Amino acid sequence: MKEADADERPESEEDVEHIPFSHTRYPEKEMAKRSQEFYELLNKRRSVRFISNEQVPMEVINNVIKAAGTAPSGAHTEPWTFVLVKDPDVKHKIREIIEKEEEINYMKRMGHRWVTDLKKLRTNWVKEYLDTAPVLILIFKQVHGFTPSGRKKVHYYNEISVSIACGILLAALQVTQTIVLKELALASFLNLQ
Ligand SMILES: Cc1cc2nc3c(=O)[nH]c(=O)nc-3n(C[C@H](O)[C@H](O)[C@H](O)COP(=O)(O)O)c2cc1C
Repeated sequence: MKEADADERPESEEDVEHIPFSHTRYPEKEMAKRSQEFYELLNKRRSVRFISNEQVPMEVINNVIKAAGTAPSGAHTEPWTFVLVKDPDVKHKIREIIEKEEEINYMKRMGHRWVTDLKKLRTNWVKEYLDTAPVLILIFKQVHGFTPSGRKKVHYYNEISVSIACGILLAALQVTQTIVLKELALASFLNLQ
């Protein structure tokens, strides 16, 4: 088979590393207790509009990103890229880009209804926390990938797959139960826009 043809060949089961499935089966009472506890923990999450400048342990950040990467994805394409930014100059450039876009959102792009609906949240386009937060987590969706020879590879349902990964990231941040991380959650969230 020519190399070009090989790229066209759909991935078969033999091409994919097998990861064994392991499952713990809990009694009904235990399932109810665990689900109640998980709900109560997630129900404590809040979007706050003040951001701590305290450092966040890298081990925690790596773990929550790894948790996000366990998300299901269309045809197992895993169409996400997580980028950590700590460099002050890069954070500032990101702030400039986001503020410019957000100002357009508030001034004309999103319209009067959106601006009115957001009034109660007292938000605007100024995002100084993008300079002061110790770490930004940028989340990119990959609208397509590449085969080893550089051909385009379709990423099915890329947007919803990345959204699920973001949800898991937020839940993982909440599970760590620290104020710093809750605030970090908002910073990472806003960068999605
Ligand atoms: C897609 C999306 C976009 C959001 N954009 C913003 C935003 O630009 N600024 C902001 O302060 N909060 C933003 N939020 C947070 C929501 O305002 C917040 O989730 C909502 O008010 C409910 O509050 P809670 O997160 O504390 O439950 C956004 C949430 C989502 C899901």
